[in-house]
Amino acid sequence: MNIVCLLGSPRPKGNSATIANRFLETAQGMGAKIQTFALNKLNYRGCQACMTCKTKLDRCVLKDELEPVLDAVRDADILVMASPIYYGEVSAQLKAFVDRTFSYLTPDFKSNPIPCRLAPGKKLLMILAQGEPDEKQFADVFPKYEMFFKWYGFKEFRLIRACGVMDVKDAGNRNDLMTLAENTAKQMMEP
Ligand SMILES: Cc1cc2nc3c(=O)[nH]c(=O)nc-3n(C[C@H](O)[C@H](O)[C@H](O)COP(=O)(O)O)c2cc1C
Repeated sequence: MNIVCLLGSPRPKGNSATIANRFLETAQGMGAKIQTFALNKLNYRGCQACMTCKTKLDRCVLKDELEPVLDAVRDADILVMASPIYYGEVSAQLKAFVDRTFSYLTPDFKSNPIPCRLAPGKKLLMILAQGEPDEKQFADVFPKYEMFFKWYGFKEFRLIRACGVMDVKDAGNRNDLMTLAENTAKQMMEP
């Protein structure tokens, strides 16, 4: 299994990264090949809506540090997107990546039953950390991404939410979250 993990937090040892790392360690122990990108360290722009990926190229025209990330996701069996909740959404770093996945869509994506250039059957894990302890708050975030990645042909979706985690070490001190990360890896590693 080829796993690509995108860390959307600026905090390298923060809550979403800590959960992601436990997931990745477990999967690696089971033989997965891991590639992790700390998005905050990369220089890239959001989608420019230039439509070159629909008119001239089958990929994004922008030559910046997101190019290898977009390439890696093409080869991934499992995509992990880990992010803090900022103002009720994923971080700007992760959102800019998602906007650039527009380049995966075919020119006739509106009418084509297979609208995506990615190979079908990938799995998505989202890890979302929020300070707010009430699980009902920001429960709308994951379903939106699930809908878009379903459209991209992903076939399995998992979510780990860490609610009520504010300081960097909060998630690492929560055994329930660390165990959930391990168990999720074991389940997702099944073909
Ligand atoms: C700019 C900013 C915006 C935030 N917005 C929210 C929010 O809307 N809701 C919330 O519950 N927590 C919010 N938080 C708290 C973070 O989601 C929380 O600290 C989370 O654990 C950070 O995850 P990380 O450690 O992976 O970076 C915000 C924090 C920052 C710095």
